[in-house]
Amino acid sequence: MQDLNGKTAVITGAASGIGRALALACRRAGLRVIATDVERGALDALARELATPGGLAAATEVLDVRDAAAVEALAARCFAGPGGVELLFNNAGVMMTRPLWEHSDVEWRWLIDVNLTGIMNGIRAFVPRMLARGVPAHVVNTGSMASFFAAPMLGAYSASKFAVRALTEALHHDLRQRQACVQVSLLAPGAVKTRIFDADRNSPSGTPPLAGASGAVRDSMRSGTQQTGMDADAVADLVLTAIRAERFWIFPHPEMLAPLPELGAAIVAGQTPEFGLAKSWKLEGE
Ligand code: NAI
Repeated sequence: MQDLNGKTAVITGAASGIGRALALACRRAGLRVIATDVERGALDALARELATPGGLAAATEVLDVRDAAAVEALAARCFAGPGGVELLFNNAGVMMTRPLWEHSDVEWRWLIDVNLTGIMNGIRAFVPRMLARGVPAHVVNTGSMASFFAAPMLGAYSASKFAVRALTEALHHDLRQRQACVQVSLLAPGAVKTRIFDADRNSPSGTPPLAGASGAVRDSMRSGTQQTGMDADAVADLVLTAIRAERFWIFPHPEMLAPLPELGAAIVAGQTPEFGLAKSWKLEGE
């Protein structure tokens, strides 16, 4: 979709980090923006930034991506009139750092529900309406480098992001088989300066605090990302460029894929996985 001007974008997890940067980049590109998140206060702040005199209307809306009925209701409203939605960013995500056996059931379900089911809810609500409308549209799902490399202390996050990659590739195949008007991309960043390491600010009760080694790893990743991570605005610009070029893969940190051939060869050879294979994955953020 080369010309984004005048189109409409729906963004989940838009009140912070990459989602917020996407909302502002879309606005600069002349899109109508519907920015959604669970954080009302941060959404209000974003609404003030999105307000452009004379520009297309921008809307902010509290939306929990785990709530399938609420996502469905939003999509129904967006497509109720003559217009619709051309860009959907399934971006909301959360992260926790623990060995897998320390995730409580509540925490596990929350993380999988936000990171994976939330994207499925977006696909189920928006894609059929995009197809029925028959106008070119594009869905961007936010994965991660954790969609390619399973990392220690990030098992639940890696599991969710591997699944996001599988789901996104499958969605692409489903659509291509039908020569559909909807394109798909997987955004798979490495470290980006956002509030992802404070994702527990939205965690449900029953989530144990990140203490001990789990807290230390989280703190180390946070400080490493603040020092060397990419700015969210730069990621958002890359995403819009990829949409215009109709590219499936969006890799803000392509250098981090360097160990992938070695990992693939090790799998084919039946070798036990070694985390050392993912040499450019800097867990400590050094
Ligand atoms: P962030 O914490 O700054 O933003 C995430 C947003 O999602 C927040 O505004 C939060 O309120 C919202 N959110 C949380 N639970 C939600 C729910 N149930 N429904 C709707 N919104 C919800 O973090 P960031 O980094 O901007 O995260 C965006 C995406 O980028 C996530 O999917 C994350 O996994 C992914 N990502 C981030 C990387 C990084 O280094 N920051 C690297 C790779 C991927």
